[in-house]
Amino acid sequence: MEDDKLILAIESSCDETAAAVVKNGREVLSNVISSQIELHKLYGGVVPEIASRKHIEKINQVVEEALEEANLTLDDMDAIGVTYGPGLVGALLVGVAEAKAIAYAAKKPLIGVHHIEGHISANYIENKELEPPFICLVVSGGHTHLVRVAEYGVYEILGRTRDDAAGEAFDKVARAIGLGYPGGPKIDKLAKEGNEKAITFPKAKVAGSPYDFSFSGLKSAVLNYINSCHMKGETVNEADIAASFQKAVIDVLVEHAMMAVKDFGNDKLAIAGGVASNSALRAAMQKACDENGIKFYYPSPIYCTDNAAMIGVAAYYESLKGVSHGWDLNAVPNLKLGER
Ligand code: KG4
Ligand code: ZN
Repeated sequence: MEDDKLILAIESSCDETAAAVVKNGREVLSNVISSQIELHKLYGGVVPEIASRKHIEKINQVVEEALEEANLTLDDMDAIGVTYGPGLVGALLVGVAEAKAIAYAAKKPLIGVHHIEGHISANYIENKELEPPFICLVVSGGHTHLVRVAEYGVYEILGRTRDDAAGEAFDKVARAIGLGYPGGPKIDKLAKEGNEKAITFPKAKVAGSPYDFSFSGLKSAVLNYINSCHMKGETVNEADIAASFQKAVIDVLVEHAMMAVKDFGNDKLAIAGGVASNSALRAAMQKACDENGIKFYYPSPIYCTDNAAMIGVAAYYESLKGVSHGWDLNAVPNLKLGER
């Protein structure tokens, strides 16, 4: 249709090189993701220099595939969306340079997108009825934010982590019990075989900031527990550690999310980011929402972890507000949510 708005979106903020075509902000026509996980696994985490180099190798191919899969050409696009922060500066630069080159050559508007805004917007893809205002818990490898989405593109951060992100805690604990990178999905799986009540780990609260999170104490408690078992010559039950650690994280996430939804007079909660694909978190959040009469929204796992479809959705809603960027758009590694 003439009025359809098509956006080619690019995401390269961490270790996935991704491109997607999104129609009218809600329909994903293609979603291509080239993951570097296998490469970074060798080092136990993302190596920024390697990530940038790999993005350069892959980006053209991923963009071409996204257009091909959507059965469309660059000419058909109405705008080019790209993540310009936050993230690894070298990795972000590859996507930003690619998007600028394409937008300039094809004479299309360029729309820079905040990565977290992308994660939140992933909820619009499969939940066609979801509209702001709602509360969104963003839990990824780099971020833990409790956000009030006042309207499209308008965010109020209610709480954030004071130290480690939720995903980072999963990754560090996974490494400590020998599960490798990325730890989240592995802990999710192993926890199903463990007893979540076997070990009581601390659930940190931040004095005076009821919506904030802190996970570094929990991570240290897990490491101390493992060390003390070793010192006493006791065997360590990895599955029990995974289940008990996961429960400690989830209890806090659920408690804070429920409090935010109640305090802000809202009956809608969404979750987003890589950790949002955690099966126990989804189940616990669903239960709490059901008990409190709250509607619960979450993206499919493929839209939880980094992808470009979510960037296309966010770019669409930014474009409706008239947002576009100039050729001086730069990567901003510590971009704040709500900044342009
Ligand atoms: O959103 P994402 O792909 O990247 C960032 O923007 O950070 O999130 C990646 C994070 C990693 O820390 C990974 O361990 C975690 O999400 N993750 C999970 C699960 N799947 C991915 N954490 C817990 N359970 C999962 N099933
Ligand atoms: Zn992310």
